[in-house]
Amino acid sequence: MPVDLARDWLKILLWAPLLCAQFLESGADTDLRKTALQLMQEAPLIDGHNDLPLKLRWLYQNKLSQANLRTLNTTDTNIQKLRDGHVGAQFWSVYVLCGAQNKDAVRLTLEQIDLVKRMCEAYKEFELVTSSQGIENTDGKKTACLIGIEGGHSIDNSLATLRMFYELGVRYMTLTHNCNTPWAETSSKQVHNFYPRTKGLSAFGKEVVKEMNRLGMMVDLSHTSDATARAALEVSKAPVIFSHSSAFSICNHSRNVPDDILLALKKNRGIIMVTFPTKFLACHNRIVNISTVADHFDHIKKIAGSDSIGIGGDYDGEDSFPVGLEDVSKYPAMIEELLRRGWSKTELRGVLRGNFLRVFREVENVRDRNVSVRANEEEIPLEQTRHECRLELKPPLSPTASTHRLKLSSLTLTVALCVTLH
Ligand SMILES: *[C@@H]1O[C@H](CO)[C@@H](O)[C@H](O)[C@H]1NC(C)=O
Ligand SMILES: *[C@@H]1O[C@H](CO)[C@@H](O)[C@H](O)[C@H]1NC(C)=O
Ligand SMILES: *[C@@H]1O[C@H](CO)[C@@H](O)[C@H](O)[C@H]1NC(C)=O
Ligand SMILES: *[C@@H]1O[C@H](CO)[C@@H](O)[C@H](O)[C@H]1NC(C)=O
Ligand SMILES: [Zn+2]
Repeated sequence: MPVDLARDWLKILLWAPLLCAQFLESGADTDLRKTALQLMQEAPLIDGHNDLPLKLRWLYQNKLSQANLRTLNTTDTNIQKLRDGHVGAQFWSVYVLCGAQNKDAVRLTLEQIDLVKRMCEAYKEFELVTSSQGIENTDGKKTACLIGIEGGHSIDNSLATLRMFYELGVRYMTLTHNCNTPWAETSSKQVHNFYPRTKGLSAFGKEVVKEMNRLGMMVDLSHTSDATARAALEVSKAPVIFSHSSAFSICNHSRNVPDDILLALKKNRGIIMVTFPTKFLACHNRIVNISTVADHFDHIKKIAGSDSIGIGGDYDGEDSFPVGLEDVSKYPAMIEELLRRGWSKTELRGVLRGNFLRVFREVENVRDRNVSVRANEEEIPLEQTRHECRLELKPPLSPTASTHRLKLSSLTLTVALCVTLH
């Protein structure tokens, strides 16, 4: 008996340091999680990109009445998860597929904007805002809804359309999605064959950027080619964003941002909002978990400083997310990991919120300093486009009418050319 007792004591003595260390470690983890949650309460996340609106089109044909966004469980995003994730502001992507280019991209984009507006009206947990002040006013009590267009094909080569999108509340536009437009080159040229000769940003593309500066719409360079990004960084008078991209040096996917552009971004005082889909995080089939994402944060901080960083999860935009970051409720785990890696609270307040607000305010300031500048009336040269579905605008044909007698009001649409592509 005494032998057994002694053995038990020996066991306890041997295990005690281990148990103790484990207890301390889990204690430390609980503390880190508490700190992360506290930080996020003070500085609720502003997330740069979420594709729930696209999912609502696919799953419900935009019939909001058929979905309950509080409990929706076939998506990465619902209202409960947003609350759990401390998402204080969300840019909803009003993305329409590249296949709509030169077809009904404008209508489809309008329908997605309508959807976001209805969704943010229907739920008291949401509030649609269109300014940096608007985000600050909601103060984490509601999730501020913001609208971002993903892909220049949505404006159908028309600065007037761009301006009207601004009036509808759109506050960023990604210059391209996975397809070239006549005026901007994508990072993903293998996906579509639109405008294969486009390189970087064309002369008209530069006008688009300048008009966005004038309006106060953020220029988003996620999905653009490096040449497009470099050109836009040269032209833009305001800070730009990458609403959902990660670091090319860590994973050399064409959607990610190389170091020289990170440096140019720092100089521009813009931000890259680190994105979480696994395919952009690990290029060599490694296990993808929170550590992998943190490597991207650490690298970007090393190159461009923590002031250049935000978060753009891209939830519901891709299928696969890292272990531990499966949906929008998991953001605190990311902040916890960065705390563990020695990021300061000040740095993390910036990543969560402050850096984005700085960019947004600066974009608004550039707009306000340019109020006297007139709208840009530049048009894209028609030969640069393939507009098979356009009406050709002509005055009415009348044998007696001289051009002098033609009044503007009698201009009619006379020739309809709509050649289907297929
Ligand atoms: C998801 O929601 C549906 C409809 O509300 C419900 O029937 C189902 O049990 C839920 N599934 C899970 C896994 O919670
Ligand atoms: C990424 O790196 C691999 C080799 O490490 C190379 O084969 C591939 O072409 C690179 N991809 C890009 C987009 O640079
Ligand atoms: C992530 O996976 C790597 C490799 O398996 C592992 O070393 C690391 O501890 C994991 N990190 C987390 C936070 O789980
Ligand atoms: C527009 O804003 C930029 C950036 O603040 C400023 O440099 C420029 O002078 C302004 N242009 C006009 C015409 O006001
Ligand atoms: Zn995207």
